[in-house]
Amino acid sequence: MKIVFIGDIVGSLGRDMVYRYLPRLKRKYNPDVIIANGENAAAGRGITKVIFDDMLRAGVDVVTMGNHTWDQKEIYDFIDETDYLIRPANFSDEAPGRGMTTISRNGVTLSVINLHGRTFLPPHGDPFAKIDELLDEAHEISPLVFVDFHAEATSEKIAMGWHLDGRASAVVGTHTHVQTADERILPEGTAYLTDAGMTGPYDEILGMKKEDVIYRFQTNMPVRFEVPKNGRVQLNGLYVELDDKTGKAIHVERIMINDDKPFES
Ligand SMILES: [Fe+2]
Ligand SMILES: [Fe+2]
Repeated sequence: MKIVFIGDIVGSLGRDMVYRYLPRLKRKYNPDVIIANGENAAAGRGITKVIFDDMLRAGVDVVTMGNHTWDQKEIYDFIDETDYLIRPANFSDEAPGRGMTTISRNGVTLSVINLHGRTFLPPHGDPFAKIDELLDEAHEISPLVFVDFHAEATSEKIAMGWHLDGRASAVVGTHTHVQTADERILPEGTAYLTDAGMTGPYDEILGMKKEDVIYRFQTNMPVRFEVPKNGRVQLNGLYVELDDKTGKAIHVERIMINDDKPFES
C-alpha cells in the first residue's frame, strides 16, 4: 500500500496548495491512500464542514487533527457523522469523535490513528498507553497502521517512533510546522519522520503573518495571529510504501515543495 501524507494544512493558501498539487502527487506516487492533517485548515484554527468536504472531494481520504481540533465550534456537529475525520485518540473519553479509523483499498486495510503529545502541550491522556490499547484493536483487523503523532517535543516523537517500531507501519510527527530531515525505516520496519512540516504560507512564521509574531517576541504583548491570504506557498509531507502482508515499511520519502525546491515529477 502506498500512502501520501500531507503535513498541517494552514488556511486558504494551504488548501489551495493541496488542490493544486494533489493531481501531480497522485501522478508521481500513485498513492492508495492520502492522509492530511487539517487542524489549521480554517484560517489557521480548526476545520469546518465545507473545508472538510472540499478536502475529501480533492482526494484526501482521511483528515487528522491536533491541538486546534475544537477551534471551530461547528466540528462538534459533524465529527461524529464521518469516519474520515479523526482527532487525537488520547483526548478525554468525553470528547466527541474518534481517534482511529480504517480505510480499505484493493482488499488491504489500513488503520489510521491520531495521537497528541503532552510535553509542552496541554496534558491529555498518556499517548503511549493509548496507542498500546488501540494497536491491539487495530492488529485484529490488519498489520497496516499509520500514526500521526501531533506533538511539540522532538524527543517525545522519537520516543513514540521507537515505542512503536515493528508494531506500527509508519509514525509521522506533526504540529511544529517545520519539516525534519530524519526520515528513515527503523530496524523493525516502522517508517519514521519527526515532523512532516506544514502546507501553506512559505514566507511567514509557521503559517502566521511574520510581523505579528516578531512584534509578540519583541513586546510580549498579546497579538491575534493571522494567516495571510496571499504570498508564496509550500507543501510538506511524506510518502511511504508498505508491505501489504506484513505491514512493514518498504520505502519512505519526504515531500517538500516550495519555490526553492520546486516539484519534481
Ligand atoms: Fe498545526
Ligand atoms: Fe498543532
